[in-house]
Amino acid sequence: MKQKLYKDGNKKNPAILFLHGFPFDHRMWKSQIEFLKNDFYCLSYDILEKWEKSKKTEPTPFEFLVDDLFSIFEREKLGKLVVCGLSMGGYIILRALERKPELFSKIILCDTRTEADSNEAKLKRVAGIQNINENGVDKFLKEFATNTLSELTIKAYPKLYKKALKITKDRTENSVKSFLIAMQGRTDTTSVLNQISVPTLVLCGEFDTITPPESMEKLSSQIPSSEFVKVPEAGHMAPFENPKFVNEKILEFLNK
Ligand code: MLT
Repeated sequence: MKQKLYKDGNKKNPAILFLHGFPFDHRMWKSQIEFLKNDFYCLSYDILEKWEKSKKTEPTPFEFLVDDLFSIFEREKLGKLVVCGLSMGGYIILRALERKPELFSKIILCDTRTEADSNEAKLKRVAGIQNINENGVDKFLKEFATNTLSELTIKAYPKLYKKALKITKDRTENSVKSFLIAMQGRTDTTSVLNQISVPTLVLCGEFDTITPPESMEKLSSQIPSSEFVKVPEAGHMAPFENPKFVNEKILEFLNK
């Protein structure tokens, strides 16, 4: 099954491909795409789509998610382009950089990490699956989505919080369980950082507790040509929580 590629803007403009975080989908990038689409060809897709449409529950090696990204490049005949990924989307980009660095002209990494799951993180994935089995996927999704946002966003921007819950509510039990296992099995990509030869922008919400600013600043410092920017008033979903700030930073980076 082919994943649908959402295309906004004029194909003649420079392209940027967005990879969302878990358990969101391409709609998390709406503000960035609206802001950039007049000058850039904005592409996005739903990483979990295939697993949502399939009735089969089968193990999903993380590597398949990277293969899916490469399939999109091949199928759409995309040349070298800018990619922007958040958290799980960043994991995919970092592994793709190890396998085919020639595909990328610039990289934007938001609220992500290179380290594989620690023992604690692995057990948390298992607890997540147990929670789904006992209480249903909706409860799990609500808790997970809530944790990705800062308290400030939840309290001060209830509409945004509602939007996050609406987007993530669409996930299926099958896809969520498959992806918890997939992320649990991803490899460590730290050694790719000092080999990244293209300009990189690293963004992290100041209140991100999942991939905290200190760890992302360290990640950025290992990339030869990288800029680290802390996003004010945002948690783990920085582009979603403070789009105005993030959009300007992305535009500045793309125009450099
Ligand atoms: C995400 O935002 O994509 C998730 O926090 C990734 C993860 O669970 O490791």
